[in-house]
Amino acid sequence: MSPKIYLIVATDLKRGIGLKGKLPWHLPGDMAFFKKMTIHTDDIQYRNMVVMGRVTWESIPEKHRPMAGRKNVVITRNKDYKVDEGVVIAHSLPQALKAADERVADIFIIGGSKVFEEAMKRSKVDGIYLTRIKKAFQCDRFFPKIPNAYYPEKIGEGMDEGVEYEFLLYKKRKRKPVAKKRSSRPRKKRASSS
Ligand SMILES: NC(=O)c1ccc[n+]([C@@H]2O[C@H](COP(=O)([O-])OP(=O)(O)OC[C@H]3O[C@@H](n4cnc5c(N)ncnc54)[C@H](OP(=O)(O)O)[C@@H]3O)[C@@H](O)[C@H]2O)c1
Repeated sequence: MSPKIYLIVATDLKRGIGLKGKLPWHLPGDMAFFKKMTIHTDDIQYRNMVVMGRVTWESIPEKHRPMAGRKNVVITRNKDYKVDEGVVIAHSLPQALKAADERVADIFIIGGSKVFEEAMKRSKVDGIYLTRIKKAFQCDRFFPKIPNAYYPEKIGEGMDEGVEYEFLLYKKRKRKPVAKKRSSRPRKKRASSS
């Protein structure tokens, strides 16, 4: 089966996600949630793949990258961009998604804003893990509006240093089956048996 594609993001009350190349907040509980969700696979023979833009990659402290236990893919237009051994470079989102080999369970697109936007428009996104932070921060990067085709389910909550947040999973609505069109031709009357 082909891997499912998820977005995973934390947003503030105004859909803000970043400021000056960094996260605007420090929420260890959300970081732990991110790690758990992106690492977990039902079968240990598989691992997940994380896909990110070059700026997001550079925002990860060097000691934490590449993200352990996951296949790391970085998107850049720069053909000479160098990354650590084992990290895959892609020059477009479709190319990044193609890096999923047979050992990849799920794909997590982890940002930033342009990559999220492109994924929402062009890819088959199966679900969105969204941490909704119940506070407004100064931000210069934002998450796109989530289309109506997705609905949220609360899957948890947390609080760090007085900042509350909830974990939501946006799932895709199932399409209603299309009703069969009735023929406009008048039905033939059954012959009466009497
Ligand atoms: N709150 C959250 O959950 C969350 C998650 C992730 C990131 N963030 C924050 O968001 C900010 C970073 O996001 P960002 O939007 O500025 O940058 P980004 O999406 O991480 O990276 C942008 C770069 O990715 C490359 N890229 C993007 N789309 C591409 C495409 N279609 N084809 C080829 N290359 C492509 C380009 O790299 P080149 O310039 O090298 O060509 C582009 O400049 C930071 O503040 C970070 O902390 C927050």
